[in-house]
Amino acid sequence: MRLSVNIDHVATLRNARGGGHPCPVRAARACLDAGADGITLHLREDRRHIRDADVFRIAAEVPTRLNFEMAGTAEMVAIALRLRAGHALAACCIVPEKRQELTTEGGLDVLRAGPALEAQVRELAAAGIEVALFVEPDAAQIAEAARIGAQAVELHTGTYADAAPADRPALAARLAEGARAAAALGLKVHAGHGLGFDTVGAIAAMPEVEEVSIGHFLVGAALFEGGLAGAVRRMRDAIREMRG
Ligand code: PXP
Repeated sequence: MRLSVNIDHVATLRNARGGGHPCPVRAARACLDAGADGITLHLREDRRHIRDADVFRIAAEVPTRLNFEMAGTAEMVAIALRLRAGHALAACCIVPEKRQELTTEGGLDVLRAGPALEAQVRELAAAGIEVALFVEPDAAQIAEAARIGAQAVELHTGTYADAAPADRPALAARLAEGARAAAALGLKVHAGHGLGFDTVGAIAAMPEVEEVSIGHFLVGAALFEGGLAGAVRRMRDAIREMRG
């Protein structure tokens, strides 16, 4: 199972003071050196963390599987296509985005998204980008993602990860069911949001899940685990323990 590290919050820290420290490009390299399999960046409409220049520098300077997380807007589709043309962008994940939210708050409503989302998915996929849709583990949403041409779904793990430990097994079972439903439709299965050392294991136990995307927890854990390298290594170990 691939670990794609989302380094948005390295940029959050940098932006708190302006200037260039800490440098997201250096952070991306540190994660990869420590065993991450890819880097995820979410260029938000308000540019509150990662900025355009970060995305293009990392795409140009850091050889890895880059996953571009984006709202389904014309602006973001155009940027993804430029990243594909100039830097062979591997993958994108379309997420819902609201200006006031602290972080992505749930999956896309693919069923009600209308034809605009399908057009975006098909345009990005035609350019050679692997397109994932961020969805709840809901069979109807997953089936609609497949119908409109997505190659992957990223299952929203936030509700599971944020739940009280006693409530997590039932929520993990729902995610596992979603993973099986997606795989049965030929979709690649990714998962992410809110995961940490204690919650990644149940996700790694789902054989259909090919990739997890983890950000905020790892950037925080870097303070206590010997830097990003230590945090990424410990996450890899937690995954390996479950997945072998
Ligand atoms: N996946 C998606 C679609 C997200 O929006 C986010 C947050 O940007 C993540 C994964 C990573 O979540 P976290 O930072 O909580 O690990």
